[in-house]
Amino acid sequence: MAATKTYLTGIQTSGMPHLGNYVGAIKPALEAAESNDTLYFLADYHALNSVKDPEKLRHDVRSVAATWLACGLDPERTLLYRQSAIPEVFELATILSSVTAKGLMNRAHAYKAARDRNAEAGVEDLDAGVNMGLFNYPVLMAADILVMAADVVPVGRDQRQHIEYTADIAGSFNHIYGSSYAFPIPRGAYPEGEGSMLPGIDGRKMSKSYDNHIPLFLPAGRLKKLVRRIPTDSTPVEAPKDPDSSAVFQLLSHFADEERTAAARKRLEQGGMGWGELKNELFEVLDATFGPMRERYDALMEPGSELDGILADGAARARERARATLARVRSAIGIA
Ligand code: ADP
Ligand code: TRP
Repeated sequence: MAATKTYLTGIQTSGMPHLGNYVGAIKPALEAAESNDTLYFLADYHALNSVKDPEKLRHDVRSVAATWLACGLDPERTLLYRQSAIPEVFELATILSSVTAKGLMNRAHAYKAARDRNAEAGVEDLDAGVNMGLFNYPVLMAADILVMAADVVPVGRDQRQHIEYTADIAGSFNHIYGSSYAFPIPRGAYPEGEGSMLPGIDGRKMSKSYDNHIPLFLPAGRLKKLVRRIPTDSTPVEAPKDPDSSAVFQLLSHFADEERTAAARKRLEQGGMGWGELKNELFEVLDATFGPMRERYDALMEPGSELDGILADGAARARERARATLARVRSAIGIA
């Protein structure tokens, strides 16, 4: 039997996840949870760098946790916790800082992008608007991963550098203290191919940053309105249409069964199906797929629901692992 691997990932808490996040991140993560040891946490201290509204931060963290649970995360099997509930993460981040080259952080993509934006805008101080949280982001992320001794970190491709940095930082630590304690070197697991990218309502990759996304649990009425607003051309109902050029069809084919997709394709190609009717189909399929999850989501979002208990339980179990790592790390570095 292959040894079970520990899978860990951090979930951004910026607003309600969308269909693209579901397809590209949530669903594969829930599948991985069926046969692996899994820890999924809400990266609320990472969010603090950009979210300075306490009400929003509180709400977003609950909303993202409720989303994962509503999508089927089993909290018995997967540890779901808030990053902020594991103080060992922050202690380890401080320890890791002492073995991390500043030059490595200078070359981090997110930090460099912030400086580039200043340069383009003609701002003299290239560090203007950059807080230390952004600069230290990769160290905190390394601590998230290493404190749980994770083997595999499923993330989007944009996170590749962060995983390489984590391996680098772990390597520096191991080089110095490895005879007493060595971190396992984690590897990233990235989605395969561009084909896994769900398009948004304008046909580009669905992304919050393009504002072309469909949030997972919109109330039915708002979902319907959003689907009706997806831009389409003015080809008349009777005219033949190219299904593959339509974002509505691509979304439908992703969520409808094969039979329904094939029937819609045929009617579009032959002529006789208008975009309006296709949109109604898409709404029906999305509502049928996500309606039951939305009910569970709404229930979890009620004040006093079991959500907070689930997070507290996940944190207690995750903390045991973090404490065990920290005990060994402290002893290795000479602080005990
Ligand atoms: P956004 O682009 O909306 O800011 P994120 O970058 O926060 O989304 O993505 C979080 C996770 O969701 C990542 O693992 C990413 O690969 C996945 N993801 C985001 N958008 C899509 C999409 N359109 N199709 C498939 N996966 C996606
Ligand atoms: N940086 C990740 C993102 O933007 C979120 C994250 C924080 C993370 N800590 C992590 C992911 C640790 C994996 C492991 O998506």
